[in-house]
Amino acid sequence: MTNRPTTVAIVGTGVIGAGWATHFLAHGFAVTATDPGEGAESRLRNWIDDNWPAVERLGLAEGASRDNLTFTTDLGAAVRDAGFIQESSPERLDVKQALIAKIESAAKAETIIASSSSGLSISEIQAGAKHPERIVLGHPFNPSHIIPLVEVCGGSLTSPDNIAKTMAFYASTGKKVIRVNKEIKGHIANRLQAAIWQEAITLVERGIASVEDIDAAISHGPGLRWALLGPFLNLHASGGAGGITHVLQHLGPAQREWARDLGKYPETDDYIESIAAGVSAELESYDFPEMLRQRDELLIQLLEAKRNRAELP
Ligand SMILES: NC(=O)c1ccc[n+]([C@@H]2O[C@H](COP(=O)([O-])OP(=O)(O)OC[C@H]3O[C@@H](n4cnc5c(N)ncnc54)[C@H](O)[C@@H]3O)[C@@H](O)[C@H]2O)c1
Repeated sequence: MTNRPTTVAIVGTGVIGAGWATHFLAHGFAVTATDPGEGAESRLRNWIDDNWPAVERLGLAEGASRDNLTFTTDLGAAVRDAGFIQESSPERLDVKQALIAKIESAAKAETIIASSSSGLSISEIQAGAKHPERIVLGHPFNPSHIIPLVEVCGGSLTSPDNIAKTMAFYASTGKKVIRVNKEIKGHIANRLQAAIWQEAITLVERGIASVEDIDAAISHGPGLRWALLGPFLNLHASGGAGGITHVLQHLGPAQREWARDLGKYPETDDYIESIAAGVSAELESYDFPEMLRQRDELLIQLLEAKRNRAELP
């Protein structure tokens, strides 16, 4: 945006809204947050306090402070002067459409409204809006104050200019922004994860390996590379001088065979019990809260380390 907004409104302060609020506060914005939930303000302030050491480690912008947060249950007051609005309300079309109508009755007509929706279509969310051209997808990943990725997509009525402005705005706050060219269920990263989960579940169902070994197959194997290079560049690296063209000519036929044999996601919930039992067995010798703490600590170290490597995309 030519004039970068100074105030961001966060509409809905659950898990994702709290992460967004932390992110924007850490980047020096004033944040006006709103949520009608019982005890929402104290929950949000506690979450931001819990999140703050992580964003301090990653580096605060000049002027960044938790004191720049204003909470109000009055939606109109929260969005009236905002230069950017991030909507993170429950994942229901009727809730989001009703919210958009209320936001539009108070916000400036040109202010971009980005929805965090994981699966709803922006074309449906913007249907009936007065200014649908400023409604856009801005899909983050949890914890959204740490994970850089944001997926941006327009609906059928979003203007290309507002998509470009949204991408530039997020990028100016340190986010890694990718463009989803066409609306599709689950956007991009969750579809890639769904492909892995589908196969992981069916490998357990087929008795090929335990839950623990399938987790290890990723976290001690390709997962280590995936945090550094994506699937295509890793494939390119596997091809030596011939790169991806060689690999696909050489291994493509085998991959096509493996792909034909991949499992399908179970149609009933019968699989849940065996997967949950596998996870319990895997966790028997670990302290799960401590596992998550160590994961998040290493995640921050990894993000810090990646910053100093100019040739990593
Ligand atoms: N949880 C995730 O991992 C994740 C990741 C990316 C995107 N998302 C998306 O983010 C959005 C929020 O998900 P979440 O996990 O934070 O849910 P959540 O249930 O933690 O939070 C939703 C919040 O919205 C509030 N709310 C209810 N009605 C409202 C209204 N009318 N106006 C404003 N706030 C209202 C609730 O009180 C609650 O605090 C969803 O669209 C979801 O698809 C979630």
